[in-house]
Amino acid sequence: MSDDASRSPKKPPAAGLSKGLTSYGDTDFSLFLRKAFIKGAGFTDDALARPVIGIANTGSSFNPCHGNAPQLVEAVKRGVMLAGGLPMDFPTISIHESFAHPTSMFLRNLMSMDTEEMIRAQPMDAVVLIGGCDKTVPAQLMGAASAGVPAVQLVTGSMLTGSHDGERVGACTDCRRYWGKYRAEEIGDAEIARVNDQLVASVGTCSVMGTASTMACVAEALGIALPGSASPPAVTADRIRVAERSGTVAVALAKSRLTPDRVITEKSVENALRVLLAIGGSTNGIVHLTAIAGRLGIPVDLARLDALGRETPVLVDLKPSGQWYMEDFHHAGGVPALLRVLEPLLHLDALTVTGRTMGEEIAASGPGFPQEVIRPLSNPVYAQGGIAVLRGNLAPGGAIIKQSAANPKLMQHEGRAVVFENAGDLAARIDRDDLDVTADDVLVLKNIGPKGAPGMPEAGYLPIPKKLARAGVKDMVRISDGRMSGTAAGTIVLHVTPEAALGGPLAHVRTGDRIRLDVAGRSIALLLDDAELERRRAAHPVTPPTAERGYLKLFLDTVTQADQGVDFDFLRAPGRK
Ligand code: FES
Repeated sequence: MSDDASRSPKKPPAAGLSKGLTSYGDTDFSLFLRKAFIKGAGFTDDALARPVIGIANTGSSFNPCHGNAPQLVEAVKRGVMLAGGLPMDFPTISIHESFAHPTSMFLRNLMSMDTEEMIRAQPMDAVVLIGGCDKTVPAQLMGAASAGVPAVQLVTGSMLTGSHDGERVGACTDCRRYWGKYRAEEIGDAEIARVNDQLVASVGTCSVMGTASTMACVAEALGIALPGSASPPAVTADRIRVAERSGTVAVALAKSRLTPDRVITEKSVENALRVLLAIGGSTNGIVHLTAIAGRLGIPVDLARLDALGRETPVLVDLKPSGQWYMEDFHHAGGVPALLRVLEPLLHLDALTVTGRTMGEEIAASGPGFPQEVIRPLSNPVYAQGGIAVLRGNLAPGGAIIKQSAANPKLMQHEGRAVVFENAGDLAARIDRDDLDVTADDVLVLKNIGPKGAPGMPEAGYLPIPKKLARAGVKDMVRISDGRMSGTAAGTIVLHVTPEAALGGPLAHVRTGDRIRLDVAGRSIALLLDDAELERRRAAHPVTPPTAERGYLKLFLDTVTQADQGVDFDFLRAPGRK
């Protein structure tokens, strides 16, 4: 083995293995020591002289949505080596929705800090981010945006659908639908157990247009993931090929120094919002995109979002807004096919990680073919974008509703508030037969916002009270300061800002108050005069929650509201809070 490189008297360039040397007060010795250690793993000087491509490996036994991570890492490495780079995979935090207590959103910012600091700390010229489950892609993009190292997002891909008694099923819209049937006593223990076996038919992310699929499409629309990379299912050859190409592109990025701030721009963020609206994407996508853009000082204004929503129809016919699954979206051409339809509404000069513009990538994707999943602008699934922004005295800082997945009959509704003070109160009373509630009432849940729960859990999908579910009630107007799963559907008002735990108006709603929802008029109103609201505020002042130590203290002291992306205030780009 040659030692020529390590004996060289020349100063190391600030790239490859020489980047970000550990401080010993002698840079030549730092590099000498680093190479000595890595050579313990059998590397040659030739390998160590190559551009170093980090691979953020979020494989974990607790994360079946990332169950194909080993195969993806192998394929990325192949792509990197074919292009002449040196692949180096490293672990970061991994978060799965069902294996994160108290809620995955509580940990998203921690994962973003882990990702940012590991990209900064270790010598890499570019990085491939392997994520997939809901919070992981946002966390990785937030971290990579802050770290400023060229980055490519690689999603793990969706799971396959299963079959229950001949009916196609997939997580997690069908999880909720069957659980609703079980709660309503339409099906029993034996059937719900059989359904449980079928909902998740393989590794990969949820098979509908939930948050994971939404963020996969958003990443592609941002230009930070390869064209066509959002939709291949986790267990397909297409997914492995995307991984190999991501590795190859990362080597080119290491040479071109195309950093995330040149890819994620005001134009690409707006392209991503258009795509989010056109896919009937998850409401969580708004929070995550706001947080990602906020790391680069790009505001996501709710008024602008609503304006885009009014002129961007839902075109992708996937559950929960429509009928198909992610693998169907892939077979229909995926995001490139959608971008072709949306082309008149997009900023075509936005740059992507391929080094080409969005317009050039659309032109390269070909003419398309007849299919039923991605509709033309002339025949949308839903005439407006999936998400509408509401304002009013109940939500001075805004609230949102996924109108494409709501009940049209409830879009204009006035009803009596039935209030639950927190998630514990909801769990204790929602199924009691003596709960005073009718189908026309408005269910209100407080204290599940960013600070309230804490971590803004997906508890905004309040269950229909059991006695009403048994009577056949499928939907009611529900309001909270929390989030809901992107796989859920219903007439559900979310992200009420400011949250109850900060003393927002929501904190002072009482059972018996009247609430009016008017989605067409974009308003959510508590029918109470200002003087009475002020009296209640004075009589019951709210003290925001605090903690003594640890990550919980950091979270409660610095987390922002939903309209700021629920990021920590000190992580957003300077000058913006
Ligand atoms: Fe991981 Fe749905 S639980 S994507």
